[in-house]
Amino acid sequence: MIDFFKNNKKRIMKVMAVIIIIMIASTIWYEVPVTEHISISGEGKVSSPMRLALVTDLHSCYYGKKQSKLVKMIDKEKPDAILLSGDIFDDRLPQTNARVFIEEVSGKYPCFYVTGNHDLWSKKEVEIKEYLTSKGVMVLEGNAHAINIGGSDIDICGVDDPTYMTQEEWESQLDGAKDSSNPDNYRILLSHRPEKVDTYEKYDFDLIVCGHAHGGQWKIPFTQRGVAAPNQGLLPAYVDGLYELKNGSEMIVSRGLARERMPYPRFFNHPEIVMIDIK
Ligand SMILES: [Fe+2]
Repeated sequence: MIDFFKNNKKRIMKVMAVIIIIMIASTIWYEVPVTEHISISGEGKVSSPMRLALVTDLHSCYYGKKQSKLVKMIDKEKPDAILLSGDIFDDRLPQTNARVFIEEVSGKYPCFYVTGNHDLWSKKEVEIKEYLTSKGVMVLEGNAHAINIGGSDIDICGVDDPTYMTQEEWESQLDGAKDSSNPDNYRILLSHRPEKVDTYEKYDFDLIVCGHAHGGQWKIPFTQRGVAAPNQGLLPAYVDGLYELKNGSEMIVSRGLARERMPYPRFFNHPEIVMIDIK
């Protein structure tokens, strides 16, 4: 074995150099954010097509001066509203990048926000919510807000992340969101956690939008599966894209935008903004 390494030293060094270059290149490549499109039916409750931008798990990461990469991606698609489904802020990184992003988009688009676990772990939940409210962002915490888009009344509902709640307390927020919305309207629930499918199936929201799973961090190529996700473990079931729930609700999970905040790079798993077209 030692002789093999001695005799093939140059060749082994070349192979190792190629592997290192591929790893560096793929790390850089999979940090590039992309826009994904998902089209769903408005269940007869939407009279004209609408587009909603789902932005999750920014974790206060940096996307250029004034967060210009993200802002350009959003402006290009001309969404009717932005859904911020948790972990826009972070418990380790400063709030600066999250605030810059909010300041760039909140004056242009109706924005709706719910907390994620990292927003709560920052212990700055009250400050974050007050800041967002001051910027005109609708903070949802067990309630709903009606919005008219293109002549259709849409109820955007939301619940806090359940990190510091019992299941009972969290369901009372879901009850509040349901009770303050109109079942005749198309109803969207903002909730950070995709793994809470069993709970969502007890309600009748038309659409649930989540983040949290970061696409399973390393995607298994050409599948909807990832390697691991918080609260779902290995080979998590709900990490990316559209899922039909047993009760007829649809759930969309964004892979989110976390980059430098993570201790390891993303593979086959670009950060994303999801444009949801409801027709
Ligand atoms: Fe999260």
